[in-house]
Amino acid sequence: MSSLTTSLTHLLGVRTPIISAPMAGASGGALAGAVGQGGGFGFLQAGYNGAEKLKEELETARSTLKVSSLEHAAIGVGFIAWILEEGGPSSFDLLKVPLQNRVKAIWLAFGNDLGRWVSYIRDYDRQRADGHKTIIFVQLSSVEEALTAANDWKVDVLVAQGIESGGHGRASAPPLLTLISSLVEVVPKEGPPIVAAGGLANGAHIAACLTLGASGVAMGTRFLLTPESLYTDAQRKALIAAGPNSTIRTFAFDRARGTLGWPTGIDGRALMNQTVKDLEAGVPIEDVQQAFSQAVQNGDPNRMLVWAGTGVSLMNQVKGAAALVAELHQEAVAHLRRASQIVSAA
Ligand SMILES: Cc1cc2nc3c(=O)[nH]c(=O)nc-3n(C[C@H](O)[C@H](O)[C@H](O)COP(=O)(O)O)c2cc1C
Repeated sequence: MSSLTTSLTHLLGVRTPIISAPMAGASGGALAGAVGQGGGFGFLQAGYNGAEKLKEELETARSTLKVSSLEHAAIGVGFIAWILEEGGPSSFDLLKVPLQNRVKAIWLAFGNDLGRWVSYIRDYDRQRADGHKTIIFVQLSSVEEALTAANDWKVDVLVAQGIESGGHGRASAPPLLTLISSLVEVVPKEGPPIVAAGGLANGAHIAACLTLGASGVAMGTRFLLTPESLYTDAQRKALIAAGPNSTIRTFAFDRARGTLGWPTGIDGRALMNQTVKDLEAGVPIEDVQQAFSQAVQNGDPNRMLVWAGTGVSLMNQVKGAAALVAELHQEAVAHLRRASQIVSAA
């Protein structure tokens, strides 16, 4: 396998700069472990179910990777910071799970006070006897956020999330290509690697991001279409059926399911359906909520929630996550080779 070597692959000790994003309700230990097995880096998302469930997911990742400890394994844990902020003392118990297991990386996003969690992780590491240092990723969508994360918090990796992204994100995010170029201009070469996220579906997209100056990519929606993701068959079927105009940015699904604590300016990209249309048409929220929870139980694509990025129409196959990483890697290598052949000496 040809290598793609970037500052990110050096930092993470992986063969390819392909990351599976942490996805609430979708990425557990099986997915993260399989991505690590395929040569990439897999994030599992700390769910809403507390520390014990997170320990179980880490154990699944460990056994998938067939390693005795997670210390050098190519997996990390994602946290939604506003949920930590609302969680009181139990949030520290949750955050300590990856720290105590010496997991390689932690990914933070969507907080009102992200810097507080970065400081907590750094303080924890400073007091360790074993010298382990957690690699901190922060997901963001503007130059201002990137400069704060790089200069004030001194995080290790900047995840640039464009407007095309599936799942939650900043409603005012620029398109990914613009965002990466803006960050490449202001983040010094020796600064934290930039990882591109949003709407990426294939190896050509990965090659494009690397060409722009990103050191890696984080893909979410593409990894929903793996047997290892926690999405249901009904959700996967809806993703495969989706076309280029099927997604919408909306807060409708959060209203329908009652997850309202997101910081100001955050909404999410999902497949458009009747739940969104009803709320836009002024149908009373109680009626929408009732129909929505029924639809979730029945796997009804006309109303259920399926988060998806804009690249979804280019995805038409369920594939094992390890094989998918290898395929994306080979495609990216082929595209980069082809691109370099366009250049000729003067
Ligand atoms: C189902 C789903 C759940 C997500 N959950 C989270 C999450 O819990 N934390 C987070 O930081 N990002 C989350 N995201 C966003 C991803 O981190 C990433 O930015 C996004 O998936 C990239 O866009 P793509 O889906 O088009 O590849 C989620 C995305 C999806 C599709």
